[in-house]
Amino acid sequence: MYPERPAGLAFGGDYNPEQWPREVLEEDAALMREAGVNLVSLGMFSWALMEPAEGRYDFGWLDEILDRLHAAGVAVDLATPTAAPPAWFVAAHPDVLPVTREGVRIGFGGRQSACSSAPAFREATARLVRALGEHYRDHPAVAMWHVHNEYGAPLGECYCEHSVAAWRGWLRATYQDISALNDAWGTTFWGQTYTDWPQIDAPRFNHTVVNPAQRLDYARFSDGQHREHYALQRDILRELTPHLPVTTNFAGTVNCKSTDLWQWARELDVVANDHYLRAEQPDNHIDLAMSADLARSVAGGAPWMLMEHSAGAVNWQPRNLAKRPGEMRRNSLAHVARGSDSVLFFQWRASRFGAEKFHSGLVPHAGTDSGQWREVVRLGADLRRLAGVRGSRVRAEVALVWDWESYWALELDWRPSVDLSFRERMDAFYEALWREHVTVDFVHPSADISGYRVVVAPSAYLLTEAGAKNLHRYVEAGGHLLVSYFSGIVDEHDAIHPGPHPGALRELLGLSVEEFHPLRQDETVPLTAEPGTEDLRGRIWSERVRPAGAVTVRAFAAGPDAGHPAFTRHDLGAGTAWYLSTAPTGGRALRDLLGQVLDRAGVSRPRGLPEHLELVRRGRHVFLINHGDEPVTVEGVTGVSVFDGERCDGRVTVAAGAVTVVEETPRPEGERA
Ligand code: GAL
Repeated sequence: MYPERPAGLAFGGDYNPEQWPREVLEEDAALMREAGVNLVSLGMFSWALMEPAEGRYDFGWLDEILDRLHAAGVAVDLATPTAAPPAWFVAAHPDVLPVTREGVRIGFGGRQSACSSAPAFREATARLVRALGEHYRDHPAVAMWHVHNEYGAPLGECYCEHSVAAWRGWLRATYQDISALNDAWGTTFWGQTYTDWPQIDAPRFNHTVVNPAQRLDYARFSDGQHREHYALQRDILRELTPHLPVTTNFAGTVNCKSTDLWQWARELDVVANDHYLRAEQPDNHIDLAMSADLARSVAGGAPWMLMEHSAGAVNWQPRNLAKRPGEMRRNSLAHVARGSDSVLFFQWRASRFGAEKFHSGLVPHAGTDSGQWREVVRLGADLRRLAGVRGSRVRAEVALVWDWESYWALELDWRPSVDLSFRERMDAFYEALWREHVTVDFVHPSADISGYRVVVAPSAYLLTEAGAKNLHRYVEAGGHLLVSYFSGIVDEHDAIHPGPHPGALRELLGLSVEEFHPLRQDETVPLTAEPGTEDLRGRIWSERVRPAGAVTVRAFAAGPDAGHPAFTRHDLGAGTAWYLSTAPTGGRALRDLLGQVLDRAGVSRPRGLPEHLELVRRGRHVFLINHGDEPVTVEGVTGVSVFDGERCDGRVTVAAGAVTVVEETPRPEGERA
């Protein structure tokens, strides 16, 4: 259920009027009108004002704000303020303060300072949310509910006494029988056999490595506790206002390590995502695109909401670079291109005090006589012109397998190499595809993947039998699967699949691995050359592959596996399974290998476009985002340019740093190109 209001694309952001005097609020309404703001998120951190003492609710100040916004034509995404429990509550219930893995109980003075499992927190949450919901159920400004803020960030796991009690309950419900838990966790190792549930603690800090299966389950349990805290609120709100959608904002899909967003997305009426650029990272718009594609994917392809990003600098990175002219516009429209029906920001007005006073806002400290404000006003106008995009879908022919459980498991302690990283491989493949102008979806290993021409598994270390079977069926039915090293190694308990690696994928890939040979830091090994391609080298990983049906496309030319396969192909049923046992490095190395797979699978991609021209199709619209310093002419686009109304007949030029969106129209019959 996507919010009905505002019509068209939503534009606005977090609004914290409690930080400002009345005259500023009056100015806000006028400025919001000037910029075309039509949705604000309100109340996110206002528990202390909404409930100044236990059971005494005060919504008078908020009523005034909602009324003013409604009069100004601005809809409200009303937040439950549970990410900032008030001082009186924490003083009365100090046991709600979360405890870190190292055993440190955090103090009051920041935010997210209550444990999702703590009974007092859950009870106070339920009372407050009911009071809030009852008070605003009929207010015409309220268009949707926004529960909490960024669950799992920054503290995904809590180790307090309430968490441990809930954990034992979770274990009983999951395993029922203690011997089943002992088997799943492999507790015969290091003599950890449990004979009764109360013996089991959280996997807290230890001077050596803690049982990895126990840690993996704790990650699942902890994520589930946050989801329960969310669902408690959602259910109350749904009961009171069944017509209003409920969401919570993800802390940036690709960076939400502690939250399994496949599971979260099922609980939301509309997926909402936050994204902040890593300012100093070159080409950081690729990370943005990845975050947006993952948001769309967890939303099942449905339109999602960009709930927060920044108009300019953030304040929490080592060096907080301001956005360059045009960058905010490119960022915003890239999210829309990839399926967002909103462009919302943290926050409306840059704060004067508190921890985030150096964070940008739509209204900067410099005021409205500023380049940034002019860009904000322009963006508002652009988004009005793009209203027709709302609800339309992005289609992808290629999918990347992304599984949070695999992410958690791979990055536990004592792996064959510290260079094995879920994100490192995922980013490498995503970037290669982005530079090939290929739009991708992300998929869970057990999802229906039959519609994709190519599926890539960059880092599927943990793969269940069901996931492996799904990939097998996909290939047999004609799919093209590319698997990268250290995939299919363990099951859901981080136990190695029986037999040689990669146990879950041996048959599908037509090979086995006799021994891992991780490379030294900065070491690279050459692969055999193929005429007409650049010299390829691998880094991070090498291993002794023994083909059993697969053919060698490239071999290692030196290093611990000289003469043995590095890149293989296995024709199986109507499809093909490829395997890559190193991290290609340098220039176009990975793109060249990937290109072979895409070509064989018939994935078309625009030729002759410079890399930095981002091209994405959404419904009838084609978004052309020029991240470079030179104009780019794109061929093969016919329609009307949305921002200036110009017709493009087969070609369109996008100025340096600019964004052009063309609503494609079929050429009238009989007319020649
Ligand atoms: C987000 C958070 C916002 C704000 C923002 C600053 O993670 O949800 O409340 O703190 O970061 O970049």
